[in-house]
Amino acid sequence: MTQEQILQGQVAVVTGAGQGMGRAISQRLSELGARVGVLDLNADALAETVSGLTGEGMAIACNVSDSAAVNSAFAEIEAELGAISVLVNNAGTGRAAGDGSDQMYELMAQRNDELAAGGEAKTHVDHLIFMEDEGWQGVMGVNLDGAFYCTRAAVRSMVRSGIKGSIISIASTAAQSGEGPVHYVTSKAALIGMTRALARELGSRQIRINAVAPGPTNTPIMNGIPEQWIKDMENAIPLGRMAEPNEIAQAVSWLASDASSMCTGSVLVANGGSYFF
Ligand SMILES: NC(=O)c1ccc[n+]([C@@H]2O[C@H](COP(=O)([O-])OP(=O)(O)OC[C@H]3O[C@@H](n4cnc5c(N)ncnc54)[C@H](O)[C@@H]3O)[C@@H](O)[C@H]2O)c1
Repeated sequence: MTQEQILQGQVAVVTGAGQGMGRAISQRLSELGARVGVLDLNADALAETVSGLTGEGMAIACNVSDSAAVNSAFAEIEAELGAISVLVNNAGTGRAAGDGSDQMYELMAQRNDELAAGGEAKTHVDHLIFMEDEGWQGVMGVNLDGAFYCTRAAVRSMVRSGIKGSIISIASTAAQSGEGPVHYVTSKAALIGMTRALARELGSRQIRINAVAPGPTNTPIMNGIPEQWIKDMENAIPLGRMAEPNEIAQAVSWLASDASSMCTGSVLVANGGSYFF
């Protein structure tokens, strides 16, 4: 086995793999020899991801916030590709219907106009008071419940087959900085809590679980953000730029492999130095 095939013979599952980081992570794990099962809401995007893989892949359109759909997707992957040894909980969103984002962005623009005019900023950028139960649950359902359902399904597969697997959840620097909408930041902080609790629980089985906390990363999620906001964001990063998806994929693949064999319960910060955990 060469260094370049450190995941040879392993089966990996990546969620939210239709674009952005999830696609880059799938490609990286495939380059390293893994057979990769990819999940996303968007079936067409998944087909493109699979066509870009180096090795064998399998796509299943699946909403990770639906526990029954997750269980059935993992059963299909296990039947087709074999028992799962790597899971990457990457699917995530910062918005959901009824979460008050539209009102919040309007208020933010109003406040920015006040600041740009050189006056006192009088507008409060409210978000919480516009957030309906549905909006809160929509984001928590994908970012937190989804990661829980997938982790449970992957660990059941690992335990059945006696596999000493590796699970990686994509958190965010926002969990530390608090910057971002309350449902998003809470979900990412909770993912870190889940990582720590499960690192203790699963350690005796030699199953490792870690998180990666990216800062701003150049994925489609960034489309539509005004250029000036991007510049301001990059100026606040000591390395002076956003991450590229492949840089996050490199961090994930290291945690997936035995190269990180003593790491569990950790948060690998990949944000160019903007916040420290
Ligand atoms: N891009 C950033 O700056 C950044 C920074 C920190 C953390 N993150 C996190 O990294 C992860 C990937 O981000 P990205 O920038 O590639 O996002 P993205 O929006 O480009 O891609 C997310 C993918 O997840 C899929 N998805 C969304 N809801 C889903 C669901 N219910 N079930 C299955 N798939 C679903 C989407 O269809 C999409 O393909 C997310 O968890 C995000 O919160 C991103």
